[in-house]
Amino acid sequence: MKQEMIQFIRNNNQQFVQLRRDLHRIPETAFAEIKTAAYIAAKLREWGYTPQEGIGQTGVVAELQGGAGDGPVLAVRADMDALAVTEQTGLSFASEHPGRMHACGHDSHMAMVLGTAFVLAQFRSHLAGTVKFIFQPSEEQPTGAGAMIDDGVLQNPAPDGIVALHNWPGLPVGQLALSAGPVTGSVDRFQITVSGRGGHGAKPHETVDPVVMASHCVLALQTVVSRLNNPLKPLVLTIGAIHGGEAFNVIPHEVRLTGTVRAADPEVQSQIPAQMKQVLDGVTAAYGGSAQLDYEWGIPSVVNDGPFTEQVEQYLRRWFPPEQVVALPEPSLVGEDYSLFLQNVTGTFFFLGTGDQGGPGLHHPQYSVPEDILSVGVQSFCAIVWEFFSEK
Ligand code: NI
Repeated sequence: MKQEMIQFIRNNNQQFVQLRRDLHRIPETAFAEIKTAAYIAAKLREWGYTPQEGIGQTGVVAELQGGAGDGPVLAVRADMDALAVTEQTGLSFASEHPGRMHACGHDSHMAMVLGTAFVLAQFRSHLAGTVKFIFQPSEEQPTGAGAMIDDGVLQNPAPDGIVALHNWPGLPVGQLALSAGPVTGSVDRFQITVSGRGGHGAKPHETVDPVVMASHCVLALQTVVSRLNNPLKPLVLTIGAIHGGEAFNVIPHEVRLTGTVRAADPEVQSQIPAQMKQVLDGVTAAYGGSAQLDYEWGIPSVVNDGPFTEQVEQYLRRWFPPEQVVALPEPSLVGEDYSLFLQNVTGTFFFLGTGDQGGPGLHHPQYSVPEDILSVGVQSFCAIVWEFFSEK
């Protein structure tokens, strides 16, 4: 059956390309994926599915019950949203929505998962299990996964496993890369208020200058990364904005610093606020002021399950030549709210190469995935479903 399926995928490549191009034309941002959801649901219906719409606002879910007896439930997830970017690719199927673009390649993810739904529907009678196709809105915000989970996407039936992929510049075209453990970063944000005592710019000795204290804080906070945490565990602390003062000759009362923390390891992430607080308290106390830290936990990092990821790697090796399936060279600290699915279901997140770095990357107005990867994505999901069902 494997050979038949691979051949069928090969024969239908043009179909996957068409899905991707259609979706590329109609990019929509977080929770505004109206046309996108309608397109997905219409295609699924055309192929005999009964999709549910409006799961997590604009999400779409569909199930395929295999005809070869009972088996496990495997979920396959694609993200649907585009970015507020003005496309500059010059492609014939470029965005028809001004100021909106599929610059992160989610159009290709949808085409791959839709393509998988198309292929597996043809082979339904041979499948011993249920596939749950999850089309998730608002990944970039990132609020869609949480919204779908709140709406019960992981119940009735509850998946026994979940898989998803992201197209990935920096890996050769069509290469599949996966690793156990953390592969993306958590996305936390914080605001720091450094308080002193304002006064005349010419009489600093009568003030507690928050600008000077905040400056020391910005530098000292980098030691949270470089001196308080294991250098072998990826961690970033970025101050993205500094606000304080209005006049050239006035020392203000307070300065606000805003930023983000990205960590691959949840344990590292969990200790950051206390470490930041320690540094901020110490630095500001040294100058007679104080600091308040408001730390907001965001999405966790994607942590791939060890045994499950190893299994998936074996499945992929059965369907692809050895050089096409590799270990992920390094994790990335980008955010991905697929992590929330993985907190509820055993699963893995893998990467599909779109070519070596040097060209426009993800989120760039000229980014476009090579269409050769579409059938690779479809084949990888089909391989995982088929082997997962065969083994159980
Ligand atoms: Ni993305």
